[in-house]
Amino acid sequence: MSTQRRPGGETRRAQPEATPSSTRPAVLVARAVFPEAVARLREHFDVEPNAEDRAWSHEELSRRLRGKQGLLATAGEPIDDALLAEQPQLRAVCLMTVGYNNVDVGACSRRGVLVTNAPGVLTETTADLGFALMMAAARRFPEAERFLRSGQWKDWRVDQLVGRDVHGATLGILGMGRIGQAIARRGALGFGMKVIYHNRSRLPPEVEAPLGARWVDKATLLAESDHLVLVLPYAPANHHAIGAAELARMKPTATLTNIARGGIVDDAALSAALRAGRLFAAGLDVYEGEPELYPGLLELPNVVLLPHIGSATEATRRAMVGCAVDNLVAALTGGVPLTPVNAPTRPSASA
Ligand code: DGY
Repeated sequence: MSTQRRPGGETRRAQPEATPSSTRPAVLVARAVFPEAVARLREHFDVEPNAEDRAWSHEELSRRLRGKQGLLATAGEPIDDALLAEQPQLRAVCLMTVGYNNVDVGACSRRGVLVTNAPGVLTETTADLGFALMMAAARRFPEAERFLRSGQWKDWRVDQLVGRDVHGATLGILGMGRIGQAIARRGALGFGMKVIYHNRSRLPPEVEAPLGARWVDKATLLAESDHLVLVLPYAPANHHAIGAAELARMKPTATLTNIARGGIVDDAALSAALRAGRLFAAGLDVYEGEPELYPGLLELPNVVLLPHIGSATEATRRAMVGCAVDNLVAALTGGVPLTPVNAPTRPSASA
């Protein structure tokens, strides 16, 4: 949990280490979470929290996982086969995020480790952010604010900081899952946008109809979108799904918003397109290799940059952590996890 404006104004509490002599399952919490979540875990398990909220190295994570049956984690901890091989006692990895591309799910399944994520609970909050980011890029909010704060605002001018309209424009969505549909609702019902989307599978007519949404192939999506929003999950097949060739197909007046995952956009190609004015603007919440940014992105005026805050409201973060806790409790006490990602062959209950 970040050090800025902590949720509910609460202060971080130091939590004692797990009791090694206990016969209860032991779990590791990879990042600082809300105190009530740790308290709930302690009703069932010996809990080792990350009171300092430090990002642990692979070695430290593995060392701390020794003897633990469960891990409560985020999308930031790489859970790979090497880590799993060092932890044969591990039974469940429960993520508080919807994305799980940091986890080698195949290796987890082979080794009998259940993986769960937190879908659903962050849909509307993330859609809010995605829509706001698209608007900020289209209407140049950060650039306009910098203009004002730096004392450059002297008068009203016809061509001052003019942007692109959002209402009535064509909203393109790549990845029409829960969050994609929530963004489509905002666009279609709130802003009178024409919605087109590309997805592996076409949505049923009863989902498309109220949004007036139309499935199109990817080339058409790129060519017709006035505002293209990326909401597809990261998978190796989606690596650089938007690269130089795709950007070249987009309208130079269009905006591109990425709230999905770094690596889906080729940030180097995007930077070049923005710099050359081949794309009007971009809104980014995620980056290849974050928290590092592609060199030069920071200097571009026509990109809005956010630090991966798509789901960052207090209520939603509580719900995400709560979902992960529920899953971990279920996984290690013989219950039924709510949102499993895999179905490992080894039983997940270890108590
Ligand atoms: C998610 O839940 O996947 C968010 O992007 C946070 O990583």
